[in-house]
Amino acid sequence: MKCLVTGGAGFIGSNLVDALVARGDAVSVVDDLSTGSKANINPKAVFYRESINNDLAKIFAKENPHTVFHEAAQINVRKSIADPLSDARTNVLGTINLLEACRKADVKKIVYSSSGGACYGEPSGKTDENHLVNPLAPYGASKYAAEKYLFIYSKLYGLDYTILRYANVYGPRQDPKGEAGVIAIFFNKLKSNQPITVNGDGKQTRDYVFVQDVVEANLLAAGKKTGSRIFNAGTGKKTSVNELIDFAQQVSGKKFAQVNYGPAIAGEVKHICLDCSLAKKELGWQAKTSINDGLEKTWEWTNKTTG
Ligand SMILES: NC(=O)c1ccc[n+]([C@@H]2O[C@H](COP(=O)([O-])OP(=O)(O)OC[C@H]3O[C@@H](n4cnc5c(N)ncnc54)[C@H](O)[C@@H]3O)[C@@H](O)[C@H]2O)c1
Repeated sequence: MKCLVTGGAGFIGSNLVDALVARGDAVSVVDDLSTGSKANINPKAVFYRESINNDLAKIFAKENPHTVFHEAAQINVRKSIADPLSDARTNVLGTINLLEACRKADVKKIVYSSSGGACYGEPSGKTDENHLVNPLAPYGASKYAAEKYLFIYSKLYGLDYTILRYANVYGPRQDPKGEAGVIAIFFNKLKSNQPITVNGDGKQTRDYVFVQDVVEANLLAAGKKTGSRIFNAGTGKKTSVNELIDFAQQVSGKKFAQVNYGPAIAGEVKHICLDCSLAKKELGWQAKTSINDGLEKTWEWTNKTTG
């Protein structure tokens, strides 16, 4: 199948590109390399260094993709607060621009990477897809606005979509300099024998899902005519930052130089864990990787990389 992956030079996108190439798809990548890296891109994919905000007509005419996986985004929550216009430019306007290209090129399916953590805010009760969407930062609002445009394009033009609302994704190629990937940050600090600072008391919990599981969810979503649906993609298991510190030390066999506790980030969600029973029922998808196995694979990768 012919696929186009936006953000295919980034953490999740590049892992997805590898899986698509491995199963024999013809893959093209659109990425402006604003946070992604050329080194991440599978050499068998055709690479276009281009912003999703620019005219994509020539690329779509040349590649004629059947399915588009939309991973490109501004993903930094703090940056979205500091510069909400720039966040919306990429995440909202860039998505609309992409949808226009999809419509004109008669793309059959789009799989969109949304964010459970950013959309649900501080959840109350069961965090399934029916939970109130209540973003606490511009990033969540822009990711959610893009979801709504997908809905509109499906109604107006029959563009089939699947939205995956990821939990906290971790694994090989996550940027330790970004603010989103606490596991990448911790492993990088362990590797370079540096202290860590935890925001708050470390009792905050998250649902950490391994990148290969999220890739699998994308492949299953693309292969099914889901009738334009939204699915959570997490593990349904919560892990606190303090537990992560213990796990990271166990897996690496190293100790952090020092663990400091700083002030909690204002507005940060205290606890979130996604209910993913709908994805299991409708997509036949379930996260398979235990936190221990995922951390081992991530540590192995961290050790192999330089810097
Ligand atoms: N990492 C997570 O835990 C997580 C959780 C929920 C949702 N998501 C979503 O998953 C997707 C991928 O995230 P990631 O963690 O791999 O981030 P990432 O920063 O590694 O990847 C994003 C990619 O998009 C590219 N990009 C950014 N702006 C662009 C533009 N205007 N035009 C073209 N390319 C552009 C970047 O260069 C980068 O390669 C994003 O949509 C993000 O919102 C990630």
